[in-house]
Amino acid sequence: MSITDATTAPNEWSALLAWYELAGVSTFVGDMPRDRFAETEAEASRRRAPVADTKPAEVQGAVEATRPAVAPRASLIPPDADAASAASAREQAARAASLDELREMLAAFTGCGLRQTAKNLVFGNGAEDAAVMFIGEAPGRDEDLAGEPFVGKSGQLLNRMLAAIGLEREAVRVTNTVPWRPPGNRAPTPAETEACLPFTLRHVELVKPRIVVCVGSSSCRALLRADEGITRLRGRWLSLTTPNGTEVPVMPMLHPAFLLRQPGQKRLAWRDFQTLRQRLGETV
Ligand code: URA
Repeated sequence: MSITDATTAPNEWSALLAWYELAGVSTFVGDMPRDRFAETEAEASRRRAPVADTKPAEVQGAVEATRPAVAPRASLIPPDADAASAASAREQAARAASLDELREMLAAFTGCGLRQTAKNLVFGNGAEDAAVMFIGEAPGRDEDLAGEPFVGKSGQLLNRMLAAIGLEREAVRVTNTVPWRPPGNRAPTPAETEACLPFTLRHVELVKPRIVVCVGSSSCRALLRADEGITRLRGRWLSLTTPNGTEVPVMPMLHPAFLLRQPGQKRLAWRDFQTLRQRLGETV
């Protein structure tokens, strides 16, 4: 049976759809086929090509407050089309004067392909003037359906961890490095993350938290430009400088999804949350 065969009997179409469903296809992507292998290869070759200095001047990266700086990673911004998206995102995000404006800009932003497959924009929630801001990797299925970050199992664990140090979920700000769910919960590509990064950094500037918590390794890579794994970074105080020059202390933490898979690691997360509580107590 060919899917271009207009004479295919209706029961064959439903059999094909049933087969797709059994194979785990859950997302309608578009009318035209896309060669994802070719796209991935093109992106990889762009990244392999030597790039002079593509690090955006306004993203200063992370400097550890009390220990030597984390080894800086080369910027992930590839040249040409992706760099143009990132430049347009930086220019737009800088103009957002409020969180509402930033949300509207993201809703209209076409520089990240993830929006095409996501059901909803997951902008962020919680207090707009929160003292602490949690930044995760990307929305999952539950978040995509709800249009809110960290509402699934990971989010429920995050809520319990917050409660354990006397913080209500509504009192903190929560967002992700990309605001749309990557299909099938894959990790966002470097180009997708870079395209959305200016909005995430502007989100930080508008909330003005006293502390940012990078939730998981992807968030650390995107915001701190750190190559080290999360198990080495967690629990350390680092620093993020946003495009407008604001410096914010950053604490990397283990991702709740990881803690759900490795409950034995919760003791480390508990220690980090105590450190966070202590620092908040000093600054709130
Ligand atoms: N994991 C994340 O990193 N972010 C979410 O919003 C949900 C799960």
